[in-house]
Amino acid sequence: MADKKRIMLIDNEEGLCRMMEAVLSDSGYIVEAHTRSFEAVDVFRAGAWDLVVTDIKMPGMDGLEVLQKIKEKEPSIPVIMVTAYATVETSIQALRRGAYDMLTKPFEPEELLYRVKNALNHTKLLEENRELREELVGKFRFDNIVGASEGLKDVLERVARIAVRDSSVLVTGESGTGKELIAQAIHYNSPRREKKFIAINCGALPASILESELFGYRKGAFTGAHENRTGLLEAADGGTLFLDEVGNLPMEVQKTLLRFLQEQEFIRIGDTTPTKVDVRIISATNSDLNRAVERGEFREDLFYRLNVVNIHLPPLRERRSDIPLLAAHFIGQQNRKFGTRVKGLAPDALEAVCSFPWPGNIRQMQNVIEASMAMECGDCLGRGVIAQFIDLPAATDDGDGESDEGDYNQALSRFERDYLQGLLRKNRGNVDAAAREAGMNMATIYRKIKKYSIRKEDFS
Ligand SMILES: Nc1ncnc2c1ncn2[C@@H]1O[C@H](COP(=O)(O)OP(=O)(O)OP(=O)(O)O)[C@@H](O)[C@H]1O
Ligand SMILES: [Mg+2]
Repeated sequence: MADKKRIMLIDNEEGLCRMMEAVLSDSGYIVEAHTRSFEAVDVFRAGAWDLVVTDIKMPGMDGLEVLQKIKEKEPSIPVIMVTAYATVETSIQALRRGAYDMLTKPFEPEELLYRVKNALNHTKLLEENRELREELVGKFRFDNIVGASEGLKDVLERVARIAVRDSSVLVTGESGTGKELIAQAIHYNSPRREKKFIAINCGALPASILESELFGYRKGAFTGAHENRTGLLEAADGGTLFLDEVGNLPMEVQKTLLRFLQEQEFIRIGDTTPTKVDVRIISATNSDLNRAVERGEFREDLFYRLNVVNIHLPPLRERRSDIPLLAAHFIGQQNRKFGTRVKGLAPDALEAVCSFPWPGNIRQMQNVIEASMAMECGDCLGRGVIAQFIDLPAATDDGDGESDEGDYNQALSRFERDYLQGLLRKNRGNVDAAAREAGMNMATIYRKIKKYSIRKEDFS
């Protein structure tokens, strides 16, 4: 096989080193084992590797130093650190310095295989993601949209496909999920990009004012109409009109808008002849328009005209892998705005924001980071300051070092549970297939499923 993965093993214990070498090469990897770390680092620098597994406690150059040298040459390569239970402190340091995973001695061969497979899989995902992004970015501009989750990737792929078509788009999603941002991305990646993108909130204005805003009026059309006024539809000619909160569009305006969508023309208030414009309509709602149609609050014919293409933005809690990236993005934004130098979130704060459900989604997160940075602008934002703005579960960190170990074990469990769930989802609940893929035996998988109360039926 041309694409066999190349793994470097570094451990001064000859026996363990040979055991790992045998397990991994039996599973089809190309393995090179070293018992002297200096030598290993030199060999590493000269070659091309997919993964490094290194012991931490070694004479000469220890594992942390090895990690550093490896990351200097190859920042994205996953490194698994092998350690004895007694060195949990060091393990945490290693994770913070960019190690991908930890393996505690003694371990079963299947445990090693499982970690290795997972680490290599992670690189594959990163690569796929980068390729996809490069491909999209080559043709489309999404530079202000942050995230790498599957959910967001699907949305961006869809945006790329429909931007160039001229159909109406309805963007749905909870409040703060980025509906307006996506509407802009559609416009700026469409042939209309040189013309205007105009947004109007349909929920904020009474019907009569909304109507004159949209369609404009002739001087003298009603009391107070002292001069001609161009409506937004005309102002957006050649471009895009974004109807935000379209679910709140009053009935009388729904009717006029429908006419416009059917005829591509409308009559200014007080006018007798229609005006023709070429405008693409993108609308957004955080309410369930289907229900509104059923209840007779929204015209069905208008709904179909607006919803030629639907883009749904998943809530942030369903794309948690975007959270760290978004946090870094918003911190950077604030740094640039106020000249501060906050580096990021402290590990406990990151942990907290990653598990928080974010009912107000990305907007809420942006607000919380802004507010926190207004209170604290040291090196890192801590959990304490974040907890002033969102309701976090009681902190476990009492600063005696023990809790770090607790955090670490918790993180490992979470990782293991997510991995198992992903594995079962992929194998549709088939434990046998899942075990084969992970290189674990069935009994181990069953034991872990039980430990995390996972129901395999949920995935079949
Ligand atoms: N993927 C993202 N990357 C970077 N910023 C984002 C992302 N998604 C949303 N934002 C930012 O979050 C904020 C909220 O986004 P937006 O206004 O588009 O959401 P919305 O769904 O229209 O919200 P609402 O329902 O409250 O109107 C904006 O400041 C936007 O720039
Ligand atoms: Mg909005």
